[in-house]
Amino acid sequence: MTTRSSVWLVAQRPSREQRRGRYLPESSCHPGKMAPALAAQAIGTYTQPGDVVADPMCGIGTTLVEAAGLGRDGFGVEYEPRWAALAEANVAVARAGGAPGEAEVVVGDCRRFASLMPAELVGQVALVLTSPPYGSSTHGQVSFDGRRVHKRDTHYSADRANLAYGGVGPLLTAMEDMLRGAFRVLTADGVVVLTARPWRRDGALIDLPGALVGAAVACGFVLAERNVALLAAVRGHDLVPRASFFQLNDVRKARLAGRPQHVIAHEDVLVFRKHP
Ligand SMILES: C[S@@+](CC[C@H](N)C(=O)[O-])C[C@H]1O[C@@H](n2cnc3c(N)ncnc32)[C@H](O)[C@@H]1O
Repeated sequence: MTTRSSVWLVAQRPSREQRRGRYLPESSCHPGKMAPALAAQAIGTYTQPGDVVADPMCGIGTTLVEAAGLGRDGFGVEYEPRWAALAEANVAVARAGGAPGEAEVVVGDCRRFASLMPAELVGQVALVLTSPPYGSSTHGQVSFDGRRVHKRDTHYSADRANLAYGGVGPLLTAMEDMLRGAFRVLTADGVVVLTARPWRRDGALIDLPGALVGAAVACGFVLAERNVALLAAVRGHDLVPRASFFQLNDVRKARLAGRPQHVIAHEDVLVFRKHP
């Protein structure tokens, strides 16, 4: 089977604008959210109204909110009670705003994804859409007090059992457990969409998307599409970057030190099916 690919324009507007008025303001505290436009594109492309969409690491509930808005029902799992409560509250905001879909969120471990799901949904899920936590610290929010730049909201939590803190090896083992659960809950022609970006540790590029392809194939999935979600806006012939202050700063420092780095301005959107 040929692996198809395409470029998804998910940053034509900054994510915070995509969320404004649709998500609770405290959602900004989560350090690794999916762009709402990315979730909406995946749900619109791979599901129909009335389908079930699940996210085993649902954070503040982007997948569930966008699914509800598009008339799909959602089921989410999140390890951190704080983010799970926010996901539930964001779904309630969407419902109050007229979103036709419903969603349930449970606090739990994605490795037990299938057993946490209501039995009647197992085998009925059209799409599992999720993005793993990676890197012990993310860029979070920045503010400037006139003299110094301050960082905040850079961590998912203080709980070292959160998969963000275990390193790439344990994360991939957990992703295999999660993917075996996904295989069980999906319909025969269901789809898994994983979004992840490569990142740098001590200057070296960590190819998480490539490793996730290996994990999914080991669980019996076939890579059907490898798309790029562009984290920059296209304006005519120009790209408007959406890179954070710290991404730009890190790259600037690397270049000054003679290392020819570029800002990473995309996320891989990996699409898997059960069959070729
Ligand atoms: C990249 S974030 C997902 C964000 C989400 N897509 C959103 O837009 O809010 C990954 C999430 O996985 C959660 N997580 C970490 N370990 C987990 C586990 N064992 N089971 C379920 N969720 C976990 C983190 O707390 C974090 O919220």
